[in-house]
Amino acid sequence: MGREVRRFVRQRRPRRLTPGRRGDALRTWNEPGPHQNRTETDHRRDGSVDKEHLHDRPHEHPARSRAQDHRTGPALQGTLVDLLGLSLLAKQVHWTIVGPRFRSIHLQLDEVVTFARSYADVVAERSSAIGVAPDGRVETVAKTAELPTPVDGWTQDSEVVALVVEALGVIATRMRERIGATEKPDPVTQDIFIGLTAELEKQRWMFQAENQH
Ligand SMILES: [Fe+2]
Repeated sequence: MGREVRRFVRQRRPRRLTPGRRGDALRTWNEPGPHQNRTETDHRRDGSVDKEHLHDRPHEHPARSRAQDHRTGPALQGTLVDLLGLSLLAKQVHWTIVGPRFRSIHLQLDEVVTFARSYADVVAERSSAIGVAPDGRVETVAKTAELPTPVDGWTQDSEVVALVVEALGVIATRMRERIGATEKPDPVTQDIFIGLTAELEKQRWMFQAENQH
């Protein structure tokens, strides 16, 4: 090994763990790690941590600090419930639709289900990433979803289309508000919301076109 290579290897050797860093694996999910809200100055010489100043620098961790604002977490949770509700609604009428346009709308509804489920996962995981536990439990969706409800039993194709247009419109309106609410606190979440809203509005347009004569 030449001298240059040896020097390179020496420089690349990982830094030895300080006592504060060794405790990292024992942290609970919501506790900030040493690389998040702490700096070397928080660690005393004996390895203990200056807890008084632990949360003084939330800006030092761009993702987890979002849990401390009161807009991003609720916006993600509201979106998750909307999407889970939408996926259930679309699947229900996928099964109960009747009428001359059964085939095309039946298939189109599954596109909505797929996109709603896929975005629900993205949104829930974003919530986890910022340190807010997502709540996709059936009880929570039943209690908090504010969407139009399909009728019990067979549903005429034009009524299915009207229902889905209304549901997509209601969610898209709420998403526009959430885009505004997350602009400052978390533009990463806002970016997810913008992509999602584009898809909701596209689907709304396509369903609306189904009922136009
Ligand atoms: Fe199916």
